[in-house]
Amino acid sequence: MMTKDLVGIKDLSKEDIQQVLGTASSFKDVLKRDIKKVPALRGKTVVNLFYEPSTRTKTSFELAEKRLSTDVLNFSVSTSSVVKGETLYDTVKTIEAYGVDFIVIRHFSSGAPHFIARNVDASVINAGDGINEHPTQALLDAFSIIEKKGTLDGLKIAIIGDIYHSRVAKSNIYLLSKFDTTIRLLGPPTLIPEVGDYGVEVFYDMDKGLRDIDVVMMLRIQMERQGKGFFPSTREYFKYWGMDMKRLNLVGKDTIVMHPGPMNRGIEIASDVVDSSQSVVLDQVTNGIAVRMAVMYLLSGQGKNG
Ligand code: CP
Repeated sequence: MMTKDLVGIKDLSKEDIQQVLGTASSFKDVLKRDIKKVPALRGKTVVNLFYEPSTRTKTSFELAEKRLSTDVLNFSVSTSSVVKGETLYDTVKTIEAYGVDFIVIRHFSSGAPHFIARNVDASVINAGDGINEHPTQALLDAFSIIEKKGTLDGLKIAIIGDIYHSRVAKSNIYLLSKFDTTIRLLGPPTLIPEVGDYGVEVFYDMDKGLRDIDVVMMLRIQMERQGKGFFPSTREYFKYWGMDMKRLNLVGKDTIVMHPGPMNRGIEIASDVVDSSQSVVLDQVTNGIAVRMAVMYLLSGQGKNG
């Protein structure tokens, strides 16, 4: 049972994850109705605190909060006293003084959500911290895989590209390793870190690593987090590690292609692959709302008897 916060997948049990995914499935049904709103969290207040840019996660949390009937406060870091030097601690304690129930935080520093969670009574949800974790992305990815494949168990999943800088990759490895999956990491040696005891297979040859794969999970090359020298050029990167139609044909018609976004089309993934029938990129976006509704609902304690 999830308790006060969701700061990472590492701390969740397989049962916690299954509970989130099951609850998300019920919320997905709600989202198909004419009236896509439930009163589950009426009277609760959520603040969205994004210290880094976001398209999907921020809008998806905001929609999830509105669908649950919460009051939503979108905190604009760039127009706040953060630019005058206010510390994260003081900003968060100020927000806490309003009596908010949830703080959704994205921060460029790994561990920022954990620090906040230790210092406030509100439930803290990690919307991506540095190169550490992005737990709700991994949960919506799992939900999207199950939606297409029926299960996680028995699947071979390739996570491809800039694993070193990817919080999405780390949360997915933590999640998928709790199930009976085969996880392959594909990429240049400079972008694949030591990932510890998670039973992953590492391939430095894309075509070999793609053999018999059920799920292809592409990652964004994170230029903003990289210094120079991780690979010679984006053209060479695409040649060796890009997902193009030739490679899509190699994996077969039943293999699904995922990308958490934002995408660098033509660098890690070809446009025709993104727009192909095997791409589930927009399904991932859609599923983000139901999964985030489920996380907030369960953290509020509402799922205790369910
Ligand atoms: N997947 C993801 O985190 O996208 P955003 O940065 O747009 O939120």
